[in-house]
Amino acid sequence: MGYVKQRTPHRMYLLVFILAFVFSLFSVVYVHYYTLVVPLKRGSPSFVIKQDVDASRSYTSAASSASLMHSVANKKESFQRNTDDLSYSGKSIPLMDFKDLQKRKKRLLLLVTVGSAPQRFDRRQAIRDTWWKFCYEKKVKCVFFTDGIIKNQTLLTLLLQEKNRYKDLELQPLPSGVQFGQRFLNSIKWATAKFDFKYFLKLDDDYFVCLKRLLFELPSRPKRNLVWGSFHCEFGISWADEAFVIFSADMIRKFLMQDKKKMLCHPFADQQFSIWMKHMTKLYFHDTRLHHDPPASFTPEFKEMKNLCDSYIGIHGTYVEEMRKFAKVANDGAKEVETFPKFSRFCPFKNFDYRKFSPKYYFRPKPCIQNPTWKNSTFTGREDEHILRQDDL
Ligand SMILES: *[C@@H]1O[C@H](CO)[C@@H](O)[C@H](O)[C@H]1NC(C)=O
Ligand SMILES: *[C@@H]1O[C@H](CO)[C@@H](O)[C@H](O)[C@H]1NC(C)=O
Repeated sequence: MGYVKQRTPHRMYLLVFILAFVFSLFSVVYVHYYTLVVPLKRGSPSFVIKQDVDASRSYTSAASSASLMHSVANKKESFQRNTDDLSYSGKSIPLMDFKDLQKRKKRLLLLVTVGSAPQRFDRRQAIRDTWWKFCYEKKVKCVFFTDGIIKNQTLLTLLLQEKNRYKDLELQPLPSGVQFGQRFLNSIKWATAKFDFKYFLKLDDDYFVCLKRLLFELPSRPKRNLVWGSFHCEFGISWADEAFVIFSADMIRKFLMQDKKKMLCHPFADQQFSIWMKHMTKLYFHDTRLHHDPPASFTPEFKEMKNLCDSYIGIHGTYVEEMRKFAKVANDGAKEVETFPKFSRFCPFKNFDYRKFSPKYYFRPKPCIQNPTWKNSTFTGREDEHILRQDDL
């Protein structure tokens, strides 16, 4: 191998280097320019996701592994993606941040969180106009969570306007899809970073809540190990439905104290927290004052009912129209507080096993740290099932 000294390579290298430099500079400029300009040309604002993002297309709220027997419409094929797979100009979309506020955290009796699909403006507005008005007491804070990785620019613009206007909306760093468990994990991380709360309430956006009644009785409820909701008791297992569940703060802390490498995620939040709680001490409160199923909006007995909050503390399956109707006849306020019965009187089982679920709800849990994705099923929620409304995503 002879080493022959030549003169030309020196200049050649320089030329190649300059060309490479110019080319890479151009690419960088182009990529940035592209994300900013393309949407503008379409009349959209510049806080957008790249146009070539292949995010999932439809999502719905209100999907829970609720009733195993309840058939959930599987309408559109939707593609499941993780944020990691998406290239978007993250800085410009104000997604929720997890920065711990340390000593500046506001102290609360109750943090209310409502999960809602991006396009459900009407449901959020119905809640704002009704029971949300009791959120403005000092000891309670109410927030909506929705997905922030959105392909539809019109929808994203509307969401950002809504967020600015009401300041009660947090955007999850997630696309739409069946990732209710990861949404729950994000929401408790966010909640813990921002507030010092005694109780955490997780809700679907089709829940009418007698918030005044709830706030009145909360101080006399157990302060530790509490899991309060509407439970299912089937196949030798029990679990609280994810549509309404209250945890005492220590439960949330225990959830987050799990080994990050081992913490398991599941597409359904209720199965996920039930898996987490398997070996934790817990005090189950099955509240019969929660109407769970069938959806109240399609239940005739609710049509003529007055003073709903005398008999109930929460009503599931309450869609926009009924939300407004129920609020008018709710008679929400302080009511007598009774001790809750032993869980064993409702259900002899306190264990949980995801393998007992029927195929539609059967998913093998995966470590959250891997940002797992799940099969392509899309859950459309119970309202759509009845009236077969088109998804507008
Ligand atoms: C985008 O979102 C808006 C607002 O929700 C909706 O009206 C429109 O149909 C959506 N567009 C597409 C292509 O899905
Ligand atoms: C996923 O999508 C494929 C192709 O559309 C379909 O055949 C399959 O049934 C879907 N799986 C689920 C669980 O929805």
